[in-house]
Order: sequence, then C-alpha cells, then structure tokens
Amino acid sequence: MPDRDTVIATLDGILDPKTGQGLVAAGLAQGLTVADDRAGFVMEVPAGDTALYAPIREAAEAALKALPGMTRVSVVLTAETAPATKPVRTASLSPQALDQTRARAPVPTDRPAYVHRVLAVASGKGGVGKSTVAVNLAAALSAQGLRVGLLDADVYGPSLPTMLGLSGKPEYRDGMMQPHEAFGLKAMSVGLLTGAGDAMVWRGPMASQALTQMLTQTRWGTAEAPLDILVVDLPPGTGDVQLTLIQKTPLDGAVIVSTPQEVALADARRAHALFQKVGVPTLGLIENMSGDVFGRGGAKAEAVRLDLLYLGDLPLDASLREGGDAGRPVVVNEPDGNVAQRFMVFAGAVREALALT
Ligand SMILES: Nc1ncnc2c1ncn2[C@@H]1O[C@H](COP(=O)(O)OP(=O)(O)OP(=O)(O)O)[C@@H](O)[C@H]1O
Ligand SMILES: [Mg+2]
Repeated sequence: MPDRDTVIATLDGILDPKTGQGLVAAGLAQGLTVADDRAGFVMEVPAGDTALYAPIREAAEAALKALPGMTRVSVVLTAETAPATKPVRTASLSPQALDQTRARAPVPTDRPAYVHRVLAVASGKGGVGKSTVAVNLAAALSAQGLRVGLLDADVYGPSLPTMLGLSGKPEYRDGMMQPHEAFGLKAMSVGLLTGAGDAMVWRGPMASQALTQMLTQTRWGTAEAPLDILVVDLPPGTGDVQLTLIQKTPLDGAVIVSTPQEVALADARRAHALFQKVGVPTLGLIENMSGDVFGRGGAKAEAVRLDLLYLGDLPLDASLREGGDAGRPVVVNEPDGNVAQRFMVFAGAVREALALT
C-alpha cells in the first residue's frame, strides 16, 4: 500500500500553475486522506480559476491512481465561495441523483470545463422547430468532424430524449453526470433528470439552477477529448426566465429560428433584442417551415432589417418530423438528402462565425 509520504511526494511532483510549487507545498491538497488503498483530497481554488485547475485535478488523480496498490482516488475541485454569494438552491431538483451532486460536486463555475464554444439555439416563439434545428445542427457539426454536445435546456418541454431516442437517468462518476451518447453526440436533457411532469412546474430560479447544473456538472469533455461545441436548446419565449437563463449561461453566440409569419418574426426580433441586452452575438437567423403554407422569405427580410446573417431556410418536410419522432435525426438518417445538405451549410456558417475550423 502506498504510504502518506509517497502520496505527498507524488502530489508535489505536480506543479501549481500559479505558484510553481508542488500541490501539497502550495496548500492545494486540503484534507488529504490516505488510508490503505485509498486517497483523496479537496482542491479549493478561487472561483475564477476552476478551468485552470481542472487539468491539474485530473493529473493529480491520475498520478495517485498510478501508484502501486492504490485502487480508489478522489480529488474534488471546488471553487472558493465568496461570503456574499447566495446559497445555491438545488432543492428544486428532486431526483436523488442531484442530491448526490450537491454533496460531492464542485461548485458550479461559469463555463463548463473542456468545452470550447457554447451555442444557443433560440426562438421567440414556441413550436417553430427550435429543437429540430438544434438536434440536426449538432449532428451536422459532428458530421463535419467536430466533437459536439447537445444540451436540452428546455425545462418546460424537453424534447431531446424523444428526438435522440434517449432514456435513463445519467450516471454519476466523481460527482459529475455522464452525458448520454447518441449518434456521436454527447447529450443531456432536463427530461432525463426529472419526469416530464416535474419539468412543467419549474419557475425561473429553478429553471436557471437546473441549467447551470447540467452545464457545469456534466462531463462534456476531458483534457484529452474536449468538446468543440456545445449546442444548447433554450426554452422558447423572451420573458424573465429566458433572460435569467441566458444571463447565467456563458454563450458564445446564438442562432435564432423562426417561421416565416410576421407573428413569429416579431418574437424572433425580441429574442435577438434579448441576446443583445446581455451581449451575446446573434450569429444568424434560420427560416423553418418555409414554403407555401406559411409563406417564404420573411426571415430573410428580417435578417436584412436587423443586419443579421441569414443562414437559410428549411422546407416543411415530413422527414424532419419523422426523424424527430423516431429518435433518429434526418441529418443522420439521410445524410445526402436535401435537408441534411442545408444543415451542413448552417453548420459551416456557425463554425466560421465561432472560429471553429
Ligand atoms: N421543417 C419542418 N418540417 C416538418 N415538420 C417540422 C419541421 N420543423 C419542425 N417540425 C415539427 O414541428 C414540431 C415542432 O418542432 P420542434 O419541437 O423542433 O419545435 P420547438 O420550437 O422546439 O418547439 P417547443 O417550443 O415546443 O420547444 C415537431 O413535431 C417537429 O417534428
Ligand atoms: Mg423544443
């Protein structure tokens, strides 16, 4: 069995990026416990530094695990909480899984670790195809070779479980939720954490809390395999809930989906205004269900008026609906079809706007 001195020497072989000292010497191995084949400690760092220390945490854990005779290692990274900070409310997330997180996981940080870009798919109005676009856009980005995650933040009507054919509560490891995987995408939905019924009664602060947790306490990426982009399907609307959500989410950009009718476009304008208010760039507008029934071209004209990039339109197409219902996105199912090709173009534009090459 490794003894305490060996553990300390191993940890001091890993340097604190801020002071250049070994981890123990730098005071970063708090509550170090060494017992038989187990070791663990807490690494408490300033709130803004958790991303900096995430790889250090992993390195420390790996180094201890590599010691002969060591079988269980737990290194918990936490952010120092400023005294003025309000207590984090997690009680609203009833599932026992989240209770576990509360006890063991690091305090949520601003950005999810190992995620390069966070993109919101939004709409002012419900039912315009936001989730359909989010799922297929994610699939198209993945088809272009990116590592992609998809977060269903629509607390009022999570649809990712159906659209990707997912079920089952996420597993916990080291205090982090493991995302589901489908078609090469890492996926997490509020619908996987709660029954659909629970989701409906959430109010603003709870919704916001749930989103923060899914964002920062899901193992989206690792040091070896960081996520290039996380696509977030936001709940529809432009009210206080949405404002809170986008204020609390570290978004690099947003894509707004609208149908061609004026009522939907008015909501798209409000969505854009909301993003402007919080300084998140709207990367572009997509017209969905474009065609004879709803008209055509409204979103393009709106994009011109708002000085936004028009990404293109999607026809009213049965394959989009069927793909969603069957849990197999059309971009995956018919990658050479017209609809998939349009998503490939949107994906290209998003990558360019976010400098993801
Ligand atoms: N271009 C399209 N052609 C045909 N059906 C579509 C198209 N886009 C979306 N749909 C269908 O319309 C319905 C609503 O789409 P979706 O769930 O993506 O919208 P949403 O904006 O996310 O809705 P909500 O506001 O409820 O979250 C779904 O049944 C979907 O399959
Ligand atoms: Mg939706």
